[in-house]
Amino acid sequence: MIGTGLFAVVSLCALAAPTLAKGKDAGVDMVATSWYAGYHATDVPLSSISWDKYTHMAFFVATTTDDSAQLSTDMSNGTLLPEFVSLAHKHDVKAGISIGGWTGSIWFSSFTDSAANRTRFVNSVTDFVQKYKLDYVDFDWEYPNRQGVGCNTINANDTANFLAFLQELRQTKVGKKLIISAATSLFPWNDATGAPMTDAKPFADVFDFIEIMNYDVWGPWSASVGPNAPINDSCAAPANQQGSAVAAVKAWTAAGMPTSKIVLGVPAYGHSFYVAPSNAFVANSTTTLAAYPPFNNSLAPHGDAWSGDDLLPTTDVCGNAVGIGGTFAFRGMVEGGFLTAAGDPASGILSRFDDCSQTPYVYNASDGTMISYDNAQSFRAKGNFIKQNKLRGFSMFETGGDFNNVLLDSILEATGMK
Ligand SMILES: *[C@@H]1O[C@H](CO)[C@@H](O)[C@H](O)[C@H]1NC(C)=O
Ligand SMILES: *[C@@H]1O[C@H](CO)[C@@H](O)[C@H](O)[C@H]1NC(C)=O
Ligand SMILES: *[C@@H]1O[C@H](CO)[C@@H](O)[C@H](O)[C@H]1NC(C)=O
Ligand SMILES: *[C@@H]1O[C@H](CO)[C@@H](O)[C@H](O)[C@H]1NC(C)=O
Ligand SMILES: *[C@@H]1O[C@H](CO)[C@@H](O)[C@H](O)[C@H]1NC(C)=O
Ligand SMILES: *[C@@H]1O[C@H](CO)[C@@H](O)[C@H](O)[C@H]1NC(C)=O
Ligand SMILES: *[C@@H]1O[C@H](CO)[C@@H](O)[C@H](O)[C@H]1NC(C)=O
Repeated sequence: MIGTGLFAVVSLCALAAPTLAKGKDAGVDMVATSWYAGYHATDVPLSSISWDKYTHMAFFVATTTDDSAQLSTDMSNGTLLPEFVSLAHKHDVKAGISIGGWTGSIWFSSFTDSAANRTRFVNSVTDFVQKYKLDYVDFDWEYPNRQGVGCNTINANDTANFLAFLQELRQTKVGKKLIISAATSLFPWNDATGAPMTDAKPFADVFDFIEIMNYDVWGPWSASVGPNAPINDSCAAPANQQGSAVAAVKAWTAAGMPTSKIVLGVPAYGHSFYVAPSNAFVANSTTTLAAYPPFNNSLAPHGDAWSGDDLLPTTDVCGNAVGIGGTFAFRGMVEGGFLTAAGDPASGILSRFDDCSQTPYVYNASDGTMISYDNAQSFRAKGNFIKQNKLRGFSMFETGGDFNNVLLDSILEATGMK
């Protein structure tokens, strides 16, 4: 899931953006992209983006609305779109719009559930593309024929209807030249039987690439503290095999999506948990952190300002009560004192690097806060994975979550794009 955060306001300094060689200099048409959350523009001004480190960037987000096929940027400060596109183009970066997201997918199903509605939605998308001079559209439907936020319209034929819509979009004058991508679940979308589709080849024909959202694999909804964004899980105990980049790439390629069209979604954030000191360590240790410890949700720590936890109680787009999310952007972990400015555990903060998932954990034994997150080492491992498996590149959620490009530089270097 992406874009779960509320739009809390914090004051963080704008970071300098050193310029480095871009991916295309490596001689391959790889993708280095991220989602720019318009609702964090006050903390992450467009001028602070390290444009030269990217090949593409998607403005997040335009949501589906109940008004027949219309898109809205009300929640994401859409007035910034013209400047976003113009800055991207100035730096030779493809500018895209991400449509949907965790809270913005409510009407995808009804937008696509009849031929007339599909045509209306196609026109709405092509109008939007022309209005803002966009190079690409990134569909972030969470999820076809699988409930997401809780009140999405849903239909057994969602995946087939989505394909019909995309094929129609491709046929248009605008659509022929458009870069079309999609943020996807770990496993191929559900077909009409409710099981992951076994043939994704028709989607491979319409998409330039997909971004597999390999994050939120473990979180506050899980039974214990596990990796937010595991590379691997086949090396974990059976109960801890909840999905990973390895499993996702295997599932999508088995369904016919070529690796050259797979971009790995990578998170610039982590999830926090309250873990009692009695559960946090391996036997007879007060320093070596245990794997998969149990946590207590009723003592859940608040995340950083972007998590919105300090604004509770509130309700989500469905009108349901929102609980403590506990997310920390990487930069929020630095600002909050868990990590140094270089991205290393701060003094007094314990840490562990899990060899199977290839992701780090930190722990504050004084207040029981454990965070499962990503750092330079895990981003390097993800970059190596992308290179070894000949994937197309990476997409980071979200642009402003990094601190001083610690994560971005690491994955660019490992993929060979820097
Ligand atoms: C939109 O972004 C601009 C520039 O950062 C900011 O001045 C303005 O307050 C933002 N508006 C909203 C509604 O967030
Ligand atoms: C088509 O769109 C309209 C307007 O958004 C919606 O009321 C309707 O349920 C959709 N589906 C069909 C099959 O008409
Ligand atoms: C799904 O599509 C089939 C074939 O077009 C149709 O018969 C069926 O009514 C559709 N199901 C739903 C839930 O719309
Ligand atoms: C994943 O784990 C399996 C089982 O231990 C191992 O064979 C494989 O090499 C691992 N793959 C990666 C990318 O770590
Ligand atoms: C932990 O310490 C106790 C008491 O010294 C000892 O009986 C036990 O075997 C130790 N456990 C491990 C796993 O080392
Ligand atoms: C979780 O914390 C609450 C509040 O302190 C406590 O009442 C409860 O017993 C704890 N649950 C577990 C399983 O430790
Ligand atoms: C760790 O916990 C102590 C005790 O509550 C607190 O003073 C300190 O600020 C915490 N450190 C971080 C990085 O949150």
